[in-house]
Amino acid sequence: MQIIDSIQAMKSLVREVRSKGQTIGFVPTMGYLHQGHLTLMRTAKEKCNFVVASIFVNPLQFGVGEDFEEYPRDLGRDSKLAEEAGVDVIFAPTVKEMYPKGYSTFVEEERITDKLCGESRPGHFKGVTTVVTKLFNIVQPDLAFFGQKDAQQSLVLKKMVKDLNMNLEIQVLPTVREEDGLAMSSRNSYLNSSERQSALLLSKSLNMAQNLIEAGERRVAEIKKAIHKLITQDTLARIDYVEILSLPDLEEVEFLEGSSLIAMAVFIGNTRLIDNLVVEV
Ligand code: PAJ
Repeated sequence: MQIIDSIQAMKSLVREVRSKGQTIGFVPTMGYLHQGHLTLMRTAKEKCNFVVASIFVNPLQFGVGEDFEEYPRDLGRDSKLAEEAGVDVIFAPTVKEMYPKGYSTFVEEERITDKLCGESRPGHFKGVTTVVTKLFNIVQPDLAFFGQKDAQQSLVLKKMVKDLNMNLEIQVLPTVREEDGLAMSSRNSYLNSSERQSALLLSKSLNMAQNLIEAGERRVAEIKKAIHKLITQDTLARIDYVEILSLPDLEEVEFLEGSSLIAMAVFIGNTRLIDNLVVEV
């Protein structure tokens, strides 16, 4: 497995791979890989001849006071894991390589980025759509793989690919969880042991919501109230948002109908965690 840090070298390798008629699968990440990322990589390898994974902690998608500096980084560990998962090349550029002095072009989705994480983290999705567009242009994948864990991100990127007629298909894979239900995340490494226990509130409250819905509850306000009640019982937990919106347009609804997304962001201590559940009624 190769590790490439220059855009030019990555582009010339892509040219070579494509000239042999091979398909390219792409998994963009910010590194500190876990089974969520590795499942995306293994699936990419099953579906494509050649797999590129990027590891780039993108400063553009972090707000002021967020964890850009602290974000865990370990390229040595990541490259071993990625190789085992079938990755052919890791693209790991520096910030300067991606955003040289004078950089001034951005990509923005304007309809579904003003809610959920977009509301709590202004500018976040502009950073994501910009970096992912750059990465797509560099890697030129046939298929790109994203996780349902970041439900809004996956919706925004699918919309971007459609709206801008990008030449690739996005596949979204289910959230990979720890045995006890906690959604895997590089940020779980910030949690101490009591926070790790409290972090279970996210998946637990989604399970509870699922049970309420299976028992016939359709009132969005009641489901949100029950989730709030469960989470706020824990003094380590502070809700950023709990929302139930229609899919795929992320519109507010009063009653569940068709396909909906229950999405939440919760601070456990200082760590902001997200989780979600798609419900069909
Ligand atoms: P990162 O948080 O590293 O996630 C990379 C990819 O892994 C995303 O598609 C994310 O949804 C997926 N992923 C993370 N945890 C997962 C889990 N538990 N189960 C399944 N998939 C999971 O998302 C980003 O990086 C960045 O915003 C990026 C798209 C790379 C742009 O900078």
